Amino acid sequence: MFVTIIGNLCKILNKMNYYHKPVMPTESIEYLNVTPGFWYIDCNLGGGGHTSKILEKGGKVIGIDLDNDAIREVAKKYNLEVVNSKRGLRAFSDNLILAQSNFANIDQVAYELDIKEIAGIFFDLGVSSFQLETAQRGFSFNLDAPLDMRMDQSFGATAADLVNGLHEKELAELFWKYGEENFSKVIAKKIVEVRKSKRIETTNQLANIISSVRRKSPVDRTHPATRVFQALRIAVNDEINSLKEALPKASNLLSIKGRLVVISFHSLEDRVVKNYFKKLEDEQKAKILTGKPIEPSEEEVNINPRSRSGKLRAIEKVS
Ligand SMILES: C[S@@+](CC[C@H](N)C(=O)[O-])C[C@H]1O[C@@H](n2cnc3c(N)ncnc32)[C@H](O)[C@@H]1O
Repeated sequence: MFVTIIGNLCKILNKMNYYHKPVMPTESIEYLNVTPGFWYIDCNLGGGGHTSKILEKGGKVIGIDLDNDAIREVAKKYNLEVVNSKRGLRAFSDNLILAQSNFANIDQVAYELDIKEIAGIFFDLGVSSFQLETAQRGFSFNLDAPLDMRMDQSFGATAADLVNGLHEKELAELFWKYGEENFSKVIAKKIVEVRKSKRIETTNQLANIISSVRRKSPVDRTHPATRVFQALRIAVNDEINSLKEALPKASNLLSIKGRLVVISFHSLEDRVVKNYFKKLEDEQKAKILTGKPIEPSEEEVNINPRSRSGKLRAIEKVS
């Protein structure tokens, strides 16, 4: 009873503030091995949860995020003025720099700031609770809103553009490739049938179309639209390619003995990270610090259910 009341109170407060509970904060900081006075790059700033932990340990942080709201909120938290440069929003202080950018451009951000010695780089992939719970961002099948899903709302195709514009076969492939959705063909067929009479514009419309042809999974009891929404989000934000582009740039930027720590939330991302770390180790460029990926404790999952699929992998650069 008490837990439910606290939970509901938190939900109300979350809607009022930029909210995201950092996943595996202690483990992340431990693996980053934060040394006071050195620079770290937080590639997924979000609500600044991990950034604040690095700052508390005396590290300096360059925080990157695609999302305007994340940059503005963290700037507000640290009383930083946000400037609108031609490359995106920026905010500066002696120990914290914020840059609105895709982390795939991490090399350009570091070059622009002229910071060469980077002791650690951190990724906490995916979306923030704030993004998921802000209806108008269009990430959630639980909240009716325009079907958007762009992390950077200033450009690019929305989820509605994909749903209404791709051919049936392309939709089915997308749902299978990025959502591992077993009913991808049936869902794509239904979408194409429905959109002949009316453009699909909202999260509710799409969720209802999916529910009409796909029952709730008896195994994991997730909402029938879960996998399709994940697939669309990954495609809209080109998430896998951004990660593939960012990892080699990140490992090039790191100083020797620097740490690269990544938390991923689904098998597609985790595979990319695992394979890239293995390649670096085979080439004797890095030492893998996490044989098996680190997962959140039971206690953390109870407090923060969104952490449950998190997997943390870390390497140390050796040459
Ligand atoms: C899981 S949240 C990070 C939460 C943060 N670590 C915290 O504890 O507050 C992921 C964030 O990464 C951002 N993001 C996702 N893909 C990105 C990319 N390719 N480049 C830059 N930011 C990205 C999202 O906009 C979101 O704010």
